[in-house]
Amino acid sequence: MFSLAGKTAFITGSGRGIGYAIADALAQQGASIFLSDINSELLKKAQEDLKSRHPETDVRGILMDVTNKEQIERGMEIIKEAGNGLQILVNNAGINLRKPVADLDDATWQKMLDTNLTSVFHVSQAAFPMLKEHGGKVINLCSLMSEIARPTVSPYASTKGAVRQFTRALATEWAQYNIQVNGIAPGFIATDMNIPLMQDKELNDYIIRHTPAKRWGRPSEVASVVAFLASPAADFVNGQIIFIDGGFIISL
Ligand code: NAP
Ligand code: GCO
Repeated sequence: MFSLAGKTAFITGSGRGIGYAIADALAQQGASIFLSDINSELLKKAQEDLKSRHPETDVRGILMDVTNKEQIERGMEIIKEAGNGLQILVNNAGINLRKPVADLDDATWQKMLDTNLTSVFHVSQAAFPMLKEHGGKVINLCSLMSEIARPTVSPYASTKGAVRQFTRALATEWAQYNIQVNGIAPGFIATDMNIPLMQDKELNDYIIRHTPAKRWGRPSEVASVVAFLASPAADFVNGQIIFIDGGFIISL
């Protein structure tokens, strides 16, 4: 029930971090993988690394800036031409440009909206014709900040809150096509996005102190939940947001 054999997965922003870990987990379950990233060097290295970890897996790479509709549409054409359609879409690409609202410029705000939110709409819409052919899965990266917030993350929290609701709305529309749409909400995970937090002793100590698990999460611990949601075992799970945060959200 957890096998992904015969399935094809596409993960945005999977050149490193959580996206790459998700690709690794889906490959481990038997899926063919389309990696994707905005950075060609990173994408090439990720492809080589993943192929070396999973020699039997079909691993391909698509250079894609998820804020560019033409590149999104071209990417879907590449997947379609490969001939196995698409059954698993993971909208992972995202950024966190931290600024207090008082200092927040329109360009930063728009870049956050384009990268974290509008991309989820555009990539999902572009993938829909393939997903509905035989049914499928859409998994969107939400966040702890879909639910709570802290100073300087207003654009990030706003986009991740919106991705949470977009996930739920899409789930109601696409269930009829046997497409399950769910979100994951990682807590504080040790990736490049959070280097500034890990380097801030006071904030780092607070995060560890406030997390019941008393540690940062690992990308692989997020990826394993995505592997479940991508599998037939989750065929009756729809519109859910699963928090993967070591207990942070439920703790005083
Ligand atoms: P990361 O280490 O910064 O990696 C983000 C990836 O997305 C990078 O490969 C990056 O490419 C790519 N990317 C950025 N902008 C892009 C664009 N316009 N088009 C295509 N790819 C783009 O971040 P992460 O921690 O793995 O986060 C991945 C996702 O999880 C994000 O949506 C994030 O919001 C979410 N998340 C993370 C955490 C956490 O604690 N880390 C918690 C909750 C949710 P480049 O490397 O070339 O910039
Ligand atoms: C921040 C962090 C957080 C985590 C994560 C929490 O600046 O507070 O980047 O946003 O990355 O998104 O779920």
